[in-house]
Amino acid sequence: MHTTPTPLRPEPTAYEPRVIAVTSGKGGVGKSVISANVAVACASQGRRVLLIDADLALANLDLLLGVEARYTVRDVLDGKASIEEAIVEGPRGVSLLAACSGDVELAALGGKARMNLFDAIDSLEQRYDTVIVDTGAGVGSNATGFASAAQQVVVVVTPDPTSMADAYAMIKVLSQRCHVERVSLVVNQASGAVEADSVVDRLVALTQRFLDVTVVPVGFVYADAAVSRSVRACEPLVSSLPSTSASSSLRALAKRLLSEPTPPHGSVAAGPSLFWKRLMGVDEAEGRDGGQ
Ligand SMILES: Nc1ncnc2c1ncn2[C@@H]1O[C@H](COP(=O)(O)OP(=O)(O)O)[C@@H](O)[C@H]1O
Ligand SMILES: [Mg+2]
Repeated sequence: MHTTPTPLRPEPTAYEPRVIAVTSGKGGVGKSVISANVAVACASQGRRVLLIDADLALANLDLLLGVEARYTVRDVLDGKASIEEAIVEGPRGVSLLAACSGDVELAALGGKARMNLFDAIDSLEQRYDTVIVDTGAGVGSNATGFASAAQQVVVVVTPDPTSMADAYAMIKVLSQRCHVERVSLVVNQASGAVEADSVVDRLVALTQRFLDVTVVPVGFVYADAAVSRSVRACEPLVSSLPSTSASSSLRALAKRLLSEPTPPHGSVAAGPSLFWKRLMGVDEAEGRDGGQ
């Protein structure tokens, strides 16, 4: 287990910074597995990666990366640790800001707390070019708040019809309430390209018909028993078993995600900082009254 805080890397990064929020309509579809493995794959491709566990109710990225985090998001928000102290280094130099599972108070962060967290993360912008945020599932969670402030929003879906229905509901909320204009769609646990394509075709047809949002398929990840084995071993698949089918699909996914453009959200222009400060609609109201 790694326990040391990550060292400061003062040199500016060579890549344009991007924040990728990974979300889904339904829990258990593979957001955390994908976030952890894409983070490791991006780091292996030379990116400086910060992975944030923002599934504050069901946090598990520390376990998936096999690291022990002394402090969590809660300690940063409570002023008990600085963000530098809270970050730990995982495989391939991926930095992790962990959360504490079962923290019901943090499960739904208020607008102000979320802004404070964004400010703390923004203070690290010289150190990272790729920030991957594993959000909670579902429309009523922190997921929409983080997705509103990220340049790139990834929705994970599986071929399960309930996952597809919930992914559609999530995309609808992201589009209509959070003004997200482009969603990157990942099909996880697919038997192959044919099944993944049929999931994509159905979701794209529905969103084109009823919503004003562009859904871009960015890849699929094979259903592979090696994924569960890697979860049990507390080691990301792409570093522990790089030649499995799921590993190669995860590496291809990381590459594709990094090649996606990061257009501005609605009328909010990307500022110099990692997160977009000025959130819109429901989030602005939350920010003013501090509620959820
Ligand atoms: N591609 C896959 N193939 C096989 N099993 C998978 C795959 N992706 C995820 N899983 C299984 O699903 C479980 C839940 O994944 P997780 O990433 O924790 O979901 P979420 O973060 O969306 O709640 C994992 O522990 C793993 O056992
Ligand atoms: Mg998760």
